Amino acid sequence: MLDFITQKKHDESRQGEAFAPEQAGVQQFSKRFYIESYGCQMNFADSEVVASILQEGGFGATRNYEEADLILINTCSIREKAEQTVRKRLTDLRKVKQNRPGALIGVLGCMAERLKSKFLEEEKLVDIVVGPDAYRTLPSLITEAEGGQKAVNVLLSREETYADIAPVRLGGDGVSAFVSIMRGCNNMCSFCVVPFTRGRERSRDAISIVNECQVLFDEGYKEVTLLGQNVDSYYWVDESTDTIVNFAQLLEKVALISPLLRVRFSTSHPKDITDEVLHTMAKYENICKYIHLPVQSGSTRVLQLMNRTYTREWYIAKVDRIRAIMPDCGISSDIIAGFCTETEEEHQETMSLMEYSKYDLSYMFFYSERPGTLAARRYEDDIPEDVKKRRLDEIVHLQNKLSHESNVRDLGKTFKVLIEGDSKKSGNDWKGRNSQNKMLVFPKGDHKVNKGDYVMVKVTDCTKATLLGEIV
Ligand code: 5AD
Ligand code: SF4
Repeated sequence: MLDFITQKKHDESRQGEAFAPEQAGVQQFSKRFYIESYGCQMNFADSEVVASILQEGGFGATRNYEEADLILINTCSIREKAEQTVRKRLTDLRKVKQNRPGALIGVLGCMAERLKSKFLEEEKLVDIVVGPDAYRTLPSLITEAEGGQKAVNVLLSREETYADIAPVRLGGDGVSAFVSIMRGCNNMCSFCVVPFTRGRERSRDAISIVNECQVLFDEGYKEVTLLGQNVDSYYWVDESTDTIVNFAQLLEKVALISPLLRVRFSTSHPKDITDEVLHTMAKYENICKYIHLPVQSGSTRVLQLMNRTYTREWYIAKVDRIRAIMPDCGISSDIIAGFCTETEEEHQETMSLMEYSKYDLSYMFFYSERPGTLAARRYEDDIPEDVKKRRLDEIVHLQNKLSHESNVRDLGKTFKVLIEGDSKKSGNDWKGRNSQNKMLVFPKGDHKVNKGDYVMVKVTDCTKATLLGEIV
């Protein structure tokens, strides 16, 4: 029997927040592990793979790190701040080791990969360091560490996709789950550390993906989010039939499991998203009309320095194409303020592209130089911090306005909403998202509906981040 351990769904606006299992493991396990995840959705999905490997290895989950024999932190390196958060957390966790000298502390994920055995030197109380492609070796690394050795495996792989491992669902709402469809990234955006920490891109066996989604649906899940750093370059060859499966075809296969299973995906790259994907989205009602299409910058010159391989005009053409094929599609973005040499005019170009794209939501950051990346090697990080922060403030301010305008456009509309559970503020209200990925909150009233049901909700009001409405 699996433990009922839960993990809140990742919300990228809360980068660095820790998520932990909510319920202690069942008694049959003689040892307990505790896992906390930081960073992107992929890390959260990986923690579910790790939980599965550890359960096979005889460890039960606990949400209380003080009673854990093994404490794991799944880390993020994307910006310096993410790494600082993890270091601070490790400092806190050290105290556990002082009280329980037998407990082991392990670092997983991108920081483990980036810092490798340096971690053991810098963070003296870390016992285990495991990179994103080496999780299968965790049980033997734990044995090594129990024997008093420092255990490190940061080998990257060209093949590992953990395709055969059934993740233990830490995302405990039972409605929505992440499914990893590929790993790594070949894009080499000059600011980004991911190609170094997660290695080469590889796609997971489509049959195992569809099976995993089918199992989720059979267990009562109503929504899957297909995850990859660049889903549009998904490419898998079924050798038994000698047929190629691209991302559009994969989407279709998952959508066909049931009209009651919603399909989402992230992240799309503007250079790779195809008309075939857009038409597949338009064809199936259960493929959500929402695309996360990070722009990073609105200036062609800066995009070139970032090695994004598209221009401002190319990006605009993609937005136009999305709107032409799916007029009701939600679009969100990632934006970096103050990349190397960015001028004030180029910053304005980012803002005008945001206005053009009418993003419903953006994840916004100021540039943080990452050691070893192309940008760190080639360009000077020359925008003063106060200028970066001021530009970021302007971008955030503009996005708040765009999000609000987008919400106001939805007033009076009726949406099909998948109920995810009680609203954060009140047990009398449900919360759930529409196809466009907007959160709606509405009174439960006398309606006989439950978590995991679809309901039609008419929008009557809105806040900055949420649509308010009532079931119709
Ligand atoms: N500095 C700031 N933001 C970054 N991102 C990636 N690397 C950096 C960096 N060095 C942002 C990008 C990416 C998102 C996941 O994080 O916008 O799309
Ligand atoms: Fe990083 Fe670019 Fe790959 Fe995204 S596409 S993970 S930003 S290198």
